[in-house]
Amino acid sequence: MPVSGEVFISGAKNAALPIMAAAVMCESAGLENCPRLSDTETAAEIIRAFGLECEIYKNTAKIKQGKKSGFAISPELCGKMRSSILFAAPAAQNFGKVVLCAPGGCRLGERPIDMHLEVLKKMGAEIFVSDKKIEIEARHGFSGADIKLKFPSVGATETAVMAGAAAKGRTHIHSPALEPEIEDLCAFLNSAGADISFGEVIEIKGCGGMLGHAEHRIMPDRIETGTYLTAAAITGGELFIRDTAPDKLEYVIKLLEDMGCIIKCGADSIYIDAPKNTINPKEIFTAPYPLFPTDMQPQFTALAAVSHGDCKIHENIFEGRYRHIPQLCAMGADIEKYGEREFIVHGLGHGLKSAAVEASDLRCGAALILAAISAKSGSSIIKNGEYVLRGYEDICTKLADIGIKAEYTEQPFGKTPV
Ligand code: UD1
Repeated sequence: MPVSGEVFISGAKNAALPIMAAAVMCESAGLENCPRLSDTETAAEIIRAFGLECEIYKNTAKIKQGKKSGFAISPELCGKMRSSILFAAPAAQNFGKVVLCAPGGCRLGERPIDMHLEVLKKMGAEIFVSDKKIEIEARHGFSGADIKLKFPSVGATETAVMAGAAAKGRTHIHSPALEPEIEDLCAFLNSAGADISFGEVIEIKGCGGMLGHAEHRIMPDRIETGTYLTAAAITGGELFIRDTAPDKLEYVIKLLEDMGCIIKCGADSIYIDAPKNTINPKEIFTAPYPLFPTDMQPQFTALAAVSHGDCKIHENIFEGRYRHIPQLCAMGADIEKYGEREFIVHGLGHGLKSAAVEASDLRCGAALILAAISAKSGSSIIKNGEYVLRGYEDICTKLADIGIKAEYTEQPFGKTPV
């Protein structure tokens, strides 16, 4: 059934997590538009385990230094999300030392943390890695450095930005990732007293210690926005998307226009009117911002599956981001592997069919929801729905607002699969 109505976009998960981590090296922080997600709850648990105060009421988070009670992130919390590594720099700055283990999170391939550790080493930290844990020491804080990243990693750039903000001396980050969530992190740190210029080279005048109080409103989630735009496209629907930032999603918007959708952007809203069953497929290459985001690839694979014609999709960021494909095929999609990192989607020209499928990660879950709502009849069951709660606030209510009935029930046995 075509979706129709209004959707209000939440704060960006991928901005909230590094900003909550950065708050560990600030005197205090007030964050508005903080999304209520299982990942932000995990971040809050990590902060409290350090002995800081962290309260989240509705969408406002308040974080404050407290009586320090630890400098370790438990294996359980590290295992829950990859962003636990983002706490390394701020915790080492605040406590002189942090102990963590290899982070978990969505399984999209190997996802090493070598670049984070190289950055921290270059900025003066001592690092001890054993089978079970990683110890990072910065007894005298960080020192500014010239950082050249071998790949524009979002997380490694954020680690360098945080360490640089607190470091003694200047830091230059060459060929950084330029994702808008990093710019939002810089704005947060600047509001706490840092001196960061965000751009093709990120320049930081380190303040040589802890930062002050920050007040910040977290930017809108561009991947949530893109997912609801795709919900309109895949069902031939019409949506008003509010509280968003169209200028941060230009590539995806242009692609949807090329596929036949009519889109009108306001300063903080997007209107989409999608054609009924006549989506033209377009070749997709995932790449660092401002090009097509890997976090939209599974959703666009579902869209390509209902389009008219063949479409090649190239995944250039995560070598393992293919686990949605067999699940989409179980819903009737016709997709074949083409090369190491490419696959071809033969569009059916109509919706997929309802089925019982299994999410393997957050965006896979989003793609399966889109596939399910493209079906003409029946209902689908998506196992491991917990993944979706990591990144989509109030998803069942928001879907209900646009005419889709969705229900979340906890798995009767076991816990969230990692
Ligand atoms: C962030 C986002 C995630 C998004 C990704 C790419 C957050 C919380 N998560 O993840 O949603 O999919 O950016 O836009 O913001 N790499 C290394 N060594 C490292 C770090 C990364 O080899 O130390 C590789 C990764 O395996 C991957 C590539 O670099 O192949 C990109 O990863 P990165 O940009 O760091 O992604 P994340 O920060 O993990």
